[in-house]
Amino acid sequence: MGFHMLESIQYKGRSAEWLAFDNMHHQWLLLAACFWVIFMFMVASKFITLTFKDPDVYSAKQELLFLTAVPEDAARSPGETHFAKELKPTGKMPLGDQLVQPLVYMQRLELIRNVCREEALRSLSHTAISKFVLDRIFVCDKHRILFCQTPKVGNTQWKKVLIVLNGAFPSIEEIPENVVHDHEKNGLPRLSSFSNEEIQMRLKTYFKFFIVRDPFERLISAFKDKFVHNPRFEPWYRHEIAPGIIRKYRRNRTETRGIQFEDFVRYLGDPNHRWLDLQFGDHIIHWVTYVELCAPCEIRYSVIGHHETLEEDAPYILKEAGIDHLVSYPTIPPGITVYNKTKVEHYFLGISKRDIRRLYARFEGDFKLFGYQKPDFLLN
Ligand SMILES: *[C@@H]1O[C@H](CO)[C@@H](O)[C@H](O)[C@H]1NC(C)=O
Ligand SMILES: *[C@@H]1O[C@H](CO)[C@@H](O)[C@H](O)[C@H]1NC(C)=O
Repeated sequence: MGFHMLESIQYKGRSAEWLAFDNMHHQWLLLAACFWVIFMFMVASKFITLTFKDPDVYSAKQELLFLTAVPEDAARSPGETHFAKELKPTGKMPLGDQLVQPLVYMQRLELIRNVCREEALRSLSHTAISKFVLDRIFVCDKHRILFCQTPKVGNTQWKKVLIVLNGAFPSIEEIPENVVHDHEKNGLPRLSSFSNEEIQMRLKTYFKFFIVRDPFERLISAFKDKFVHNPRFEPWYRHEIAPGIIRKYRRNRTETRGIQFEDFVRYLGDPNHRWLDLQFGDHIIHWVTYVELCAPCEIRYSVIGHHETLEEDAPYILKEAGIDHLVSYPTIPPGITVYNKTKVEHYFLGISKRDIRRLYARFEGDFKLFGYQKPDFLLN
């Protein structure tokens, strides 16, 4: 408004016939100045809301809130500490649950962005969006959803949800078990089956999500499922893959038992594991890192679900994907998603610290990106 005052000073002392005009002029200037101020304010406020929506600027606010949640988590006894329970501290804040809950999901995305920027972790957090990754991602065009498959976290259920949404079957109960993983028949295409432009368009505009769980507990689960119980009758795990691992990694040559968790740990922690990976083909999806499966630093996922909080995360994902009125996630049996430290300790018992540290060194990216606590009770 500086120019306005200046002009009114210049107009002083002019003749009376000018005075009327001067007053009018004065008023117009005042009005124009006010409009200018209002206009500038509107532009500024628009700019402020826009920058707030930009996640990188928003992060400053997020980090503050994140810090308030962390000490509570760290204060808990190491035995019971689990990152997933971090939901609780934010829940204690005076805001209503509806407002607070999405914060957890935003913090997860923010953590990923921060860890992706850490130079020291680069090789453990980054991967190319290769055909291997595009094969892991399933497409629901009807509702514009991409789902990256991460085995051993209830993925079959999510696939069923998407199969129903794509319209191949009317309900989850009606999908035959053998069709869920048969992508010729189940009407759930892989992202890799599209052209380059179609892939780019979907990656840019669709709702994208995947589910993670504690990386070591996941490996135990994969080991049990593929080498111990093998409920889906996939004989190649025990008859091809296990002997391959034993040949290369068993320490005690006179030991003739079937594959032990120790052999598996030594294979996974070997910096040259790729040599065997290549022979095992896509079966490695059960134990390669989440980074290798879903490229979380290259693809900007909309939501990351945690197996440990699936009871809250599944409905949230359905809501965010805009499909909560169409499907619901099947009932989760109580207790199965809870992190079980006793079980983890039991499986790693007797395995050398060196081998466990090498395993952690490979999975450190997954631990850090998804906020899982470093398992010091195994490493030290
Ligand atoms: C190697 O395995 C055999 C057979 O199970 C066992 O008797 C022997 O004690 C083991 N040796 C070592 C050094 O663990
Ligand atoms: C944790 O795992 C142990 C050993 O596998 C099992 O005995 C126990 O029941 C599990 N605890 C819970 C709470 O599931």
